[in-house]
This record gives sequence, structure tokens and C-alpha cells, in this order.
Amino acid sequence: MIPQKKSNTNSSTRKIIMKWKSLPKDLIQEIINVAQGIGVNSIAIVGGVVRDELLNNSQNEIVIRSKDLDLVVEGSASDLADALYNKLGAKRVTNLQIYNDYNTAEMKIDGFPVDLATARIEQYPQPGQNPNVTPSSLKEDLSRRDFTINAMAIDLSDMSLIDPHEGQHSLLKKEIKFLHNQSVKEDPTRIIRAARYSSRFLFNLSPESLAQIRSTLKAWPWNYSKSKSLKSIPAALSTRLRLELEILLKQEDWGIAIEKLQDWGALLLLDQSLQDDKTWKRRLKWASKFKINLLTALISSSQDSQIIAARLQLPIQQQNLILQTIEIKKFLLGISLKTEYLDWPPSKWVEEIEQANWNIQAIEIAICNAYPMWRKLLKWLHKWRLVKSPISAKELIEKGWEPGPALGQELRKLRARALDDYK
Ligand code: CTP
Repeated sequence: MIPQKKSNTNSSTRKIIMKWKSLPKDLIQEIINVAQGIGVNSIAIVGGVVRDELLNNSQNEIVIRSKDLDLVVEGSASDLADALYNKLGAKRVTNLQIYNDYNTAEMKIDGFPVDLATARIEQYPQPGQNPNVTPSSLKEDLSRRDFTINAMAIDLSDMSLIDPHEGQHSLLKKEIKFLHNQSVKEDPTRIIRAARYSSRFLFNLSPESLAQIRSTLKAWPWNYSKSKSLKSIPAALSTRLRLELEILLKQEDWGIAIEKLQDWGALLLLDQSLQDDKTWKRRLKWASKFKINLLTALISSSQDSQIIAARLQLPIQQQNLILQTIEIKKFLLGISLKTEYLDWPPSKWVEEIEQANWNIQAIEIAICNAYPMWRKLLKWLHKWRLVKSPISAKELIEKGWEPGPALGQELRKLRARALDDYK
């Protein structure tokens, strides 16, 4: 058995009664036994599950409803993963993946997702860069984390709650609090995470955490400039920033979360024009209706939308949409400078809009942005583009037309007439 700890009455380690709602107790014991067999010192549940169950449960009884397990071990997570595989067999342990960089592993045991991580401390070579890690104790591992409410663990050896950073106190106070004063500098994605939790739980940032965000952002863009090559942009300002924003936009109440980010001055992480932007709510509401990727819609209004899209490493398809949206904006601004558009019949609008062959989603993003004459685009989207020639190609051929360019021209003429007669 993993050595039993002496019971501790200290408020940071309280004993709790665990009930396993969705995970079989036997499975937990099996994991503990295998861990003990390979000399793992300590094994604990960490992360969001502990936070959520403390929020949901009464004083001393915790019912774990989670359908997965996030475990940290003092010892090697990959060795434990191997041992579990060898002991429980390939039928029970499936989807096993071992990641050597951080010595972590994920798998399913009897169908339950189990994540294993080696307790570690992190050192950030540069702000925002991925950290270098060294194995550590569980307590040290908790100290490297983002917020007090996320830095608690349940030690499986004796079911004690480990709370060295007063996470329970923060839960009671409904506050989001960084663990230390370099947290944002080391990992700026934590600002996005703070906004996510803040909107999810309706918690506020602690005053010192808000001060940390503001003072760290003041030095923006730290060492990085727009012109720097993409490779030199650290992950926390690129792919990891994108991932956190995507989660925020998909899973949280984005209205509250983005309002928080803007209030904290944190949309500056994207750029100044988005920090100053007053139109994001309208844009995102429209984008939701159109089922457009919300992150693409969010950044589309920036003067440097292409640069941000590249920095965040948006999928190429989304980057192309951004590019086309810029073209559409130019197109609309171009015609809005001339007055003749006032006399354009629908067929002329349709001809202009369709000849560029823009992706419909790019047109939708332009509508979301309320570019000049966006209502014409909306009309095209909902009405004009659906108008067809009243006589089909087949019918024209039956009437004696030869297939070829002239037939195409006639179809376009008939469609234009139908469009201009359209009420
Ligand atoms: N973490 C961190 N800094 C980050 C990301 C994660 O310290 N930039 C730590 C936190 O302790 C967090 C844990 O890693 O609790 C797991 O992260 P994640 O899976 O993103 O969040 P959960 O805690 O599972 O919470 P939720 O998914 O509900 O947001």
C-alpha cells in the first residue's frame, strides 16, 4: 500500500469521504496497487475535478461524478502507464498514449479516460514559451499551477484534500487568484483561463490578480513584434492562445468572458484595435447565427486580422476566409466612394458579388462586420442568390438552343431580368 499519511488537522489537508459515482471504487484501488508495485510515492487526483466537486458538495463528503480521472504521481507517469498496461492487460487498458516530453500518459481503463502526469516543476525560459520541466513532489506540482482554485488535490493514499494555496477559501470568496506574481508573464493564456472561469462560475478576479494582469499587459508586446517570424512567437501567444480562446468561445458564456477580457485590457493580447473594438458583441451574435467559427469572426475586424490569424495558427481555411473578408471590405469601400451604385439594380449587385466567387462564409463575416452596404450582401445571401433563370438550360435546348457560351449568356440574361423584377 502507498504509505499512509498521518492524519493532519491543518486546514490545508482535511480528510474527506469520497464516493465514486461514475468511477468504480475497485478500479481506483487497482490503480493504487499497481502504483505501489512500482514504487510510486504518492498518487493524487488534481485539477478541475477537485475544484468542481468541492463547489458541488457539502462539507466533508465528496462525490466524484467526473467521468475521467486526472492523476498526478510522484514517480514516473509513463512507467505507471506501462505497469497498468502490463498488469490489467490490453483488453482493459486501451488508447494508451505516452508523451515523453512531460512524462505524461493517457489511456482508457475499462472505458474510463485516465490521464497520468508526473509531478513537476516548470521553468519558463522566456515569457510565454513552453516550460522546461523537472520531476517534483505533489506539493511543488500544485505550486506551478494557475489559480488557487485549480491547485488542490485529493491524495488517494488517505483521501485527504491537499490545499496548500487556500483554494477552498477562494471558492468561498468566489475569487480567481493567481498563485504567484509571475503567473501571467510566464503564461499569458492564464488571462483567458481567468475569463473562462470567471464567466463560468461568476467569480471575480482578486484585486492583486487584476493588478498583475494590468501591469504585465502594460509591457505588451514584450519582446515580440508583428514583423517577427512566426517561429519566434512563443506558444502561449500562438497555438495555446488559440486553444484557450476556442474553448472560451465554445464552452463558456462568451458575452461575459469577452467583456471581462476587454475590461481587464486583455484583448490587447490579440491587438490594440480589438481591445478598442466596441462592435464584437454584434459581430459574434451574427456569427453564431451563421454558425461561423467565432474566433475567426472575433479577429476579423482587426486592422491586422491576417497577421493575428497567422500568429494564432488558425486553420488555413479560416485564414483564407479572413483574406477574402479583407477583399470584400475593399470591394465595398471602393464602390461606396462612387455614387453610381445608388442606381444599381439587383442584377448588377449580383454580378459584382458573384464574379469574385467569394466563399459564402466570407460574405457572412462581412455582414457580421456591418461593412458599408452590408445589407446588399444580406439580400444576396437570403434572396438574390437563390433566384434562377425562369427557363432552364434543358428547356432552352428543347426550344432549339445549342449548348455553348451563347446559351450561358441567355441564362444569365434571363436570371438578371428575374432579379430586377424581383420584389
Ligand atoms: N493549468 C495551469 N496553467 C495552464 C493550464 C492548466 O496551471 N495554462 C493547470 C491547472 O491546474 C488546471 C490543470 O492544469 O486545473 C488542468 O488544465 P485543464 O484541463 O485545462 O483544466 P481543468 O482543471 O480540467 O478545468 P476545466 O477543464 O474545467 O477548465
